[in-house]
Amino acid sequence: MSSAVVDGIGLLVTNDPTVGEGPLGLVRNASVVFQDGVVIAVGPAGQVADRRIDAGGRCVIPGFVDSHTHLVFAGDRGDEFAARMAGRPYEAGGIRVSVAATRAATDDELRTLAAARRAEARRAGITTIEIKSGYGLDVAHETRCLRVAGEITPETTFLGAHVVPPEFAGRIDDYVHHVSTDMLDAVAPHARWIDAFCEVGAFDAEQCRQVLAAGRERGLGLRLHANQLGHGPGVQLAVEMGCASADHCTYLSDADIAALAGSDTVATFLPATDFSTRQPYPNARRVIDAGATVAIATNCNPGSSYTTSMSFCIALAVRDMHMTPEEALLAATLGGALALRRDDVGVLCPGARADLVVLEAPSYTHLVYRPGVPLVHAVVQRGIAG
Ligand code: NIG
Repeated sequence: MSSAVVDGIGLLVTNDPTVGEGPLGLVRNASVVFQDGVVIAVGPAGQVADRRIDAGGRCVIPGFVDSHTHLVFAGDRGDEFAARMAGRPYEAGGIRVSVAATRAATDDELRTLAAARRAEARRAGITTIEIKSGYGLDVAHETRCLRVAGEITPETTFLGAHVVPPEFAGRIDDYVHHVSTDMLDAVAPHARWIDAFCEVGAFDAEQCRQVLAAGRERGLGLRLHANQLGHGPGVQLAVEMGCASADHCTYLSDADIAALAGSDTVATFLPATDFSTRQPYPNARRVIDAGATVAIATNCNPGSSYTTSMSFCIALAVRDMHMTPEEALLAATLGGALALRRDDVGVLCPGARADLVVLEAPSYTHLVYRPGVPLVHAVVQRGIAG
């Protein structure tokens, strides 16, 4: 297959300190050559290939790695959002509204909705995406949601333990058993990961432990929704069980931070969720300074964070969670890759996937400096420009 080069890059972020300067591995006046969807060389401008894409002096970054989304759903909860802005608190129970709409949708409707959101995310520079189920909550609907997700990405996550569906009302332990046995058996071929919502109003630590342990037995990787709406045992459980990621981390105690710092569990922040639910922003600075690995993800979903804009999340993380622009960019690219235990994305070095974003800006700082402005000039995914 023919090779291609993105040339005329004013500032290249490689995220590889062995390739360039500082933690972002910065290279000025650079070019990136790729073949068969894989980077084969990173170097000074002027490298030659069969096809040339001119970056025109712009900044180029690795494609965003969005390690937490719920893209497969039907229905709209704009009214719930408006009520929240008028003072109502966010409650996990709103998830059941999306469950009813998702169950009522046809396969084709779900596929079309999810594909449109995936296309929107790509236009926003997201080249790797994780997608959870969790709006089906019975065997048939969880299976089809994961099938639809699997048509989009290999990073599929079974979230049967999202909330208790109406038909199991008052029988939470029966539902947890069902999720951990029959439902898991049906969905396991369609999922890479298993997740649970560890929160008051959803599932407690023991119930989440049961679900995650069952998933691990069937070979799934573990992740957990932890400490979203208040302090609780989620983060400690995620670390104890070796989850790849503890997601949300909005309420963190000193002990939670120490546990994350002493583990391989990535602390994944979801700043647009704290924005959309009016939760206080966590102080990411403390978590980074303690030595934990951090990621930023969009958490695109109809209830708590209906956005595919990683740039918006980066701006919030810097403005309100006290990250530097460099840390936030790293968290939205390499951090997301680590949260998915991937080493082929989130970096631009030989052997990595040719996933990159040409920014309509001279520097990545503009992602924060120019909030709300669409700064994605072009996206290359697996070597294909669009
Ligand atoms: O990650 N917290 C649980 N799940 C989603 C919210 C889903 C919803 O409200 O529909 C989240 O925020």
